[in-house]
Amino acid sequence: MKRKTINICAVAAVLGLLTGSGVQAQEPPKMPYDFAMYCLMCHKEGVQIGPPGIFDMISKSGNPLHEQYVRNNVRFGLNAMPAFRISEISPKGLNSIVTYLKAVATYRKTNPAYKPAPVEEGGGKK
Ligand code: HEC
Repeated sequence: MKRKTINICAVAAVLGLLTGSGVQAQEPPKMPYDFAMYCLMCHKEGVQIGPPGIFDMISKSGNPLHEQYVRNNVRFGLNAMPAFRISEISPKGLNSIVTYLKAVATYRKTNPAYKPAPVEEGGGKK
């Protein structure tokens, strides 16, 4: 009987931890270096050479952006958008870009005013 109480306490503690990490997920997703380096200058709000809808995973036609479509655009380019080689954006870098765009889209559902910006690292890559 006593052991059961301890187990319940353990479960409660784990749940507490999980809820804690849920709160952390409310912070804006961290922009990967590759996105800040290769994508932001065209796609950010106020510049809009490239459609800013990518931050909501919505295409300029109003349809949902598919992850594979994002990958294809990055590798093959699209009209005014250049193609990026594996020597510029690695497969890992492309994964991080796609993961980031999906996370920003989710974040912006509850924080529509959020404008994607690179995280200030302070003395990181220059
Ligand atoms: C030189 C400016 C430029 C850069 C750099 C750039 N883009 Fe684009 N992007 C564009 C333009 C312009 C379009 C619209 C092309 C069209 O539809 O004619 C576009 C379109 C897109 C689309 C399709 C959006 C839609 O509504 O269909 C995606 C996704 C996208 N870009 C992602 C990226 C990613 C990810 C990067 C970084 C790896 C990137 N872009 C870098 C200019 C750029």
